Amino acid sequence: MCGIVGYVGKRNAVPVLINGLKRLEYRGYDSAGVAFFDRDNRIGVRRCAGKIKDLESSIKREKIKSFTGLGHTRWATHGRPSEENAHPHRAGGIVLVHNGIIENYFELREDLKRKGHVFTSETDTEVICHLIHSYSKDGRSFEDAVREALKHVEGAYALGVINEKEPDKILAVKKDSPLVMGLGDGEFFIASDIPAFLKYTRDVMILENNELVSITGKGVSISNLATKKPVKKEITKITWSPTMAEKGGYRHFMLKEIFEQPRAIADTIRGRISPEKGVVNLEEFSMKAKDLEKLSKIFLVACGTSWHSALIGKYMIENMAKVPCEVDIASEFRYRNPIIPKNSFIIVITQSGETADTIAAQREAQKLGAKVLSICNVVGSTSAREADSVFYTHSGPEIGVASTKAFTTQLTGLYLFSIALAKAKGILNKREIKELFSELLQLPEKVEKALHINAQVLKIARKFSQVHDFLYLGRGINYPIALEGALKLKEISYIHAEGYPAGEMKHGPIALIDNNMPVLALAPDDKVLEKILSNMEEAKSRGGKVIAVATEGSTKVLAHASDVLFMPKTNYYLTPIIFSIPLHLLAYHVAVLRKCNVDQPRNLAKSVTVE
Ligand code: G6P
Repeated sequence: MCGIVGYVGKRNAVPVLINGLKRLEYRGYDSAGVAFFDRDNRIGVRRCAGKIKDLESSIKREKIKSFTGLGHTRWATHGRPSEENAHPHRAGGIVLVHNGIIENYFELREDLKRKGHVFTSETDTEVICHLIHSYSKDGRSFEDAVREALKHVEGAYALGVINEKEPDKILAVKKDSPLVMGLGDGEFFIASDIPAFLKYTRDVMILENNELVSITGKGVSISNLATKKPVKKEITKITWSPTMAEKGGYRHFMLKEIFEQPRAIADTIRGRISPEKGVVNLEEFSMKAKDLEKLSKIFLVACGTSWHSALIGKYMIENMAKVPCEVDIASEFRYRNPIIPKNSFIIVITQSGETADTIAAQREAQKLGAKVLSICNVVGSTSAREADSVFYTHSGPEIGVASTKAFTTQLTGLYLFSIALAKAKGILNKREIKELFSELLQLPEKVEKALHINAQVLKIARKFSQVHDFLYLGRGINYPIALEGALKLKEISYIHAEGYPAGEMKHGPIALIDNNMPVLALAPDDKVLEKILSNMEEAKSRGGKVIAVATEGSTKVLAHASDVLFMPKTNYYLTPIIFSIPLHLLAYHVAVLRKCNVDQPRNLAKSVTVE
């Protein structure tokens, strides 16, 4: 998984490419490189292992002047992170950058080697370069060489290709990996994602599979890869401001994104409900009430933090709409031969819309005849394009690898969907729906208030930043929040943490509790409060240090914990949104105190586009 960027225009290309790569670093960051046409129209390539800032400082002194170029930030799949394996790759006069995985690269490479091609990297990518080079030697045009080469390639790719014989031209093509194009005034961009060029233009074209784009300083032409037929495309205006994709004054993207949640949730609600009529505007889900009436079963499928949303979605849907739900991790769903009865429905939840396992599960469900709703944050992403219906969360770009605002906006979407379904099935009446709306409309303000806990969370983080293990307990709809708190802590601070349903503690984790083991308990004022207070007491009596997250005014929690974080009161379904805030903040502060790279934790990536 990688990020690619390309530029043709009037500016000096290399700084534009470096800036674009920095915006794409969330897609991978173990090595980086750029290619550019020099003054003699020869292609220069500069690569290095490490971060983009290492590449930037290594080429700064050269004062490169160029108007066309490609850039790449890598997350290794085939071949370790190193300078030789970094992109761009070159074969003769052909230079390219690639995001994706070539499945038949081994056979292709062996064949090319037999024909005398010499490989200099361990990557799957280099075969594409050699293939294009070999076909361009047969007198084909640059475009036709790319078309011919890709006939032989199996797998996923987004490619940017340049050719020494045709200076100032970029060819770009995609299959199953994201690729977008930015159109400025006499300048053009390609990239894996929009933030790469948002600083320069908001006019975007989203490329589809098997579209070949030819870009020069004069303009852009798009054609079908196989048939060569011209393709007409609409320009989409992106309303994100460039600063929305920047850190906005925060030390890390993760912190900025945690604090953006009131805005992100408000945007996700905006225009989606008619409070007076008591209806969810179903066109926002690209659905009709009659699609919902007959639904008898729902599968919720996702990975990582989005899977935690799915778990919470089950509580929401089953409680509000009385439709049975199954929750699956996408990589399990796709291989378990799921039995999908008639009138069932799949909800995939994905921030990026590009997670390989989620896309594969979505396709599997569609193959089995099910309709798919994608709850997704990225407009035009693969999941969104291929789904039968889409609900876009309006978080804006999420850059921090650890998902925060995307998570709470997914929960907001699930809440709206559950109400719509319950209404379509005649389970909730207008008054009940209005109450649910009223609580929802107060949510952004309550989240704002919940964020005031930050300083207190920092104090708790200072107490516990050096522990080796952490246990998170929750019950009911907040059990997945225990999983989420533990996941966040382990992924960004590298502390071993486990989330458990509190009632299960006595079946195992209790054996671990001693005075070195902090236990964080989610103790909202709901029908299982007494139960969780007993679990906290059990942990306390074994020396465990108990931290509780509780509902404001619920003073009885104080007797059972050494630290209590009080959160604004909301309804049962929205508690997980409010209660995730102190947990995300705790993971953040512990990670900062441990001097971990919060936004780019080791071995992880924001968007996992490989299986
Ligand atoms: C990666 C990210 C997580 C994310 C998961 C699913 O593991 O690091 O933050 O929850 O992928 O991603 P998606 O884009 O499908 O929600």
